[in-house]
Amino acid sequence: MNEDLDMELIQVAREARELAYAPYSGFQVGSALRARSGRIFTGCNVENSSYGLTICSERVALTKAVSEGEREFDSIAVCAPGAPAPCGACRQVLNEFCPDVAVFLVDPHATPVGKVTLKQLLPSAFDGSFLDPTS
Ligand code: THU
Repeated sequence: MNEDLDMELIQVAREARELAYAPYSGFQVGSALRARSGRIFTGCNVENSSYGLTICSERVALTKAVSEGEREFDSIAVCAPGAPAPCGACRQVLNEFCPDVAVFLVDPHATPVGKVTLKQLLPSAFDGSFLDPTS
């Protein structure tokens, strides 16, 4: 892994967080997802007055990327106060495309940055292989 590229991804996640639409929770989250092609896709949480329709930053980044033709990813940086790991729903959705993705956990202001793998966050994941009747 290239440390400069990782630092760039982390900085892009910090900047993506500035665009979060979070008037209800006040909790702003930013993500930056790097495709194997090198392209970076950003996301922020987008809340809604009908709370359950809120979309997390990670899924915004992922759906933007897939909708632009990318399906392989090597890393994602997620930036929020306290450097939390992605929620369960986002772990499952990331697992669909990148079960081996590295996840950088970033606080908006503090360093250092945590690094985990999606496999650590979502062991024994459910995936499409279970839906294959021949397996
Ligand atoms: N949120 C994310 O964007 N990503 C996560 O992984 C956890 C939670 C957002 C959703 C909501 O807008 C706010 O954080 C508080 O839950």
